[in-house]
Amino acid sequence: MNYYINTYGCQMNIHESEKIAGMLEDMGYIPCAEEKDADIIVFNTCCIRETAEQKIYGHMGTTKKLKQNNKDLIIAMCGCMTQQEGIQSTIKSKYPYIDIVLGTGNISMLPQAVNRVRANRKDKVFDENYLKGTEDSMPLARTSAPNAWVNIIYGCNNFCSYCIVPHVRGREHSRKMSDVVSEVKSLIAQGYKEITLLGQNVNSYGHDLNDGTTFAGLLNEIGAIPGKFRIRFMSSHPKDLTDDVIAAIANNKNICNNIHLPVQSGSDDVLRRMNRRYTRQRYLEQIKKIRSMLPDVGITTDIMVGFPGETEQDFQDTLDLVRQAEYSSAFCFIYSRRKGTPAYSMEGQVPYPEKQRRIQLLLKTQNEVTKRLSAEMVGKVYEVLAEDANPKYPDTYCGRTENGRLVNFRCDFNPVGQFVDVLIEQARSATLWGRAVKED
Ligand code: 5AD
Ligand code: SF4
Repeated sequence: MNYYINTYGCQMNIHESEKIAGMLEDMGYIPCAEEKDADIIVFNTCCIRETAEQKIYGHMGTTKKLKQNNKDLIIAMCGCMTQQEGIQSTIKSKYPYIDIVLGTGNISMLPQAVNRVRANRKDKVFDENYLKGTEDSMPLARTSAPNAWVNIIYGCNNFCSYCIVPHVRGREHSRKMSDVVSEVKSLIAQGYKEITLLGQNVNSYGHDLNDGTTFAGLLNEIGAIPGKFRIRFMSSHPKDLTDDVIAAIANNKNICNNIHLPVQSGSDDVLRRMNRRYTRQRYLEQIKKIRSMLPDVGITTDIMVGFPGETEQDFQDTLDLVRQAEYSSAFCFIYSRRKGTPAYSMEGQVPYPEKQRRIQLLLKTQNEVTKRLSAEMVGKVYEVLAEDANPKYPDTYCGRTENGRLVNFRCDFNPVGQFVDVLIEQARSATLWGRAVKED
């Protein structure tokens, strides 16, 4: 019996798919390379932007044919898109061949649901008790060694005015520190070399535990585990990034000099209407402090254009901030109107062609910054964790520097899974090219 998972959205979802794969493998399913060979297809969805949703609906439509050819095929849908209001009735009427609908918090019910549908092919399982609470003892089929992801906090309390996440994923819920630490220790013992701690806002970690647990405390605890490994984390809400977190990065050599600090906009007026609860000035001061405490840090961000009421001046303020902040890279998004969020009904929705113009300019501006930072790295040696062979070129591998830059490099042995010193020889915009100079 084969399974195939379609994953949409963020790193969090990619990791959730590893949990789905783990449960299916526990039931005896094995992964297959093509959907047409699957006995079960899972759509692990994302509703953060409309573009992802349209893609998912389009893709789900194409599985109708597979179902017609194979009556025993089970199709399941989970992830945050299923948790939007009214979605279940849409699925029932437009996609009647979907057998199972779960959300994010009740995904541990998948084996039970699959068994029910297998026992009675007319049965459907549409569970609406989405936020039942995630179980941490779920089996995992990790797919990205030497990297691994570990959830530390679920949900979000921030209610940024454009964002659907708190509405679908519920309130913040931290895992116990002892559970997180033992998972990290076990991954290190298994040979994983880079572990990324995940949460919508990792800086809130521990607040809901009411026992003094903090994110900085967790970083210090994990940083003290013996061995050669790297820790990264994402995302950090700028309003909650404290000095003790920056100090924990500075004081623990295993914690990467790398911070993902979503800014969203460079305009105070837009930030206020986004309910971000920081100002442009405070954000830029924070960047200055990070750079003074963490030399060679790589800072990345998320930025949005076309938020309702964003004027040309607001947009120019964002471009100006991008030049000042010197991000090594930025995820740039066009604002997407999400039903159920306050921004949905705000005045001054920006027309699509204007959003397009702005995103192109934003990408160009960030690209110039990235190019400049990349050029400064040429001629220097960086420690790179080799992640994969580069399929296009012989004896060439790719990996990341501690500060998060992607490097392609030549090496005369297979270094995948090892730390290698790489001399950067060339910077081709975002990507760096070099060669291994000695084994770690
Ligand atoms: N439209 C566009 N981008 C969004 N994001 C969140 N909600 C929306 C939306 N409605 C972006 C933010 C966030 C990232 C994960 O997705 O930039 O940081
Ligand atoms: Fe959405 Fe804001 Fe929470 Fe991030 S912090 S998930 S953008 S509400």
